[in-house]
Amino acid sequence: MTSIPPAEKVGAVVPAAGGGERLPGPVAKQFRDLGGAPLLHRTLWRLAEEGRVGCIALVLPASEVASFEPPAGLPVPVLPVAGGSERQYSVVNGLSALPPEVEWVIVHDGARPLLPPGLVEACLAGALETGAAIAALPVSDTVKRAGMGDFIEATVPRGDLWLAQTPQVSRRDLLERSFALAAADGFEGTDEAALLEAMGIRVRLIPGSKFNIKITTPEDLEMAEAYLTHPEAAAPLITGDGTQTSQTAQAQTARAGAPPVIIREDR
Ligand code: CTP
Ligand code: MG
Repeated sequence: MTSIPPAEKVGAVVPAAGGGERLPGPVAKQFRDLGGAPLLHRTLWRLAEEGRVGCIALVLPASEVASFEPPAGLPVPVLPVAGGSERQYSVVNGLSALPPEVEWVIVHDGARPLLPPGLVEACLAGALETGAAIAALPVSDTVKRAGMGDFIEATVPRGDLWLAQTPQVSRRDLLERSFALAAADGFEGTDEAALLEAMGIRVRLIPGSKFNIKITTPEDLEMAEAYLTHPEAAAPLITGDGTQTSQTAQAQTARAGAPPVIIREDR
């Protein structure tokens, strides 16, 4: 294949079934408010709005599957499915919920609501050659390896080190095979690329974005709130009836220094 697959052949899996233990609160982090809209709604909008994805398998805590309502007006169907004990097993469940016509899979963490415009497309394009690509960031800090008692044991050359993000894109058949092999070997990875690498697949690194943070701790939530004023991170404008204004208008608003206008969904 030499061109980006059409949306009907592309499905997203959004793991959002975690307990969010590093961000304690009344509800798990994916259901928290971020700048006037539920964090997970922002993630879904970001995935759906560019027209690259035909459906989204949304992996939720089992107790949320029946009651979850996607944001009104989302242009892509959402298939809610229950998660597993670890992220990897949640992704497996999501994968099995995708319809048979889906040939390419985009895994994107529910906890990354500031997915930058164009990154899904860049990862899809990057995956065409070997069947797999992920968003990642070159390491910019100096890296230390700790020894006994948190004293430095070594400085690790960082020239070839990258921090993995999502989206992680792969051919469906490769991803399914990698999960089957991992299950047979009892291998657990913290991302999909680790499983594909273990199978010998060459996974392309696509430059991601510092804005594409995974909300993990309370500080991350505060940073994400601050990032919302930046055009690359600005969230879609979600109105009460689920319609949204254009990314361009929003970016202009953000560039002008005004905070993005989010009209809270009234439910
Ligand atoms: N996730 C999942 N199923 C799990 C664990 C995690 O679907 N069993 C999802 C999370 O909901 C999140 C993404 O995987 O969207 C990345 O995981 P992480 O940031 O670690 O989230 P949590 O596991 O919820 O947080 P914590 O590790 O702090 O408990
Ligand atoms: Mg976790």
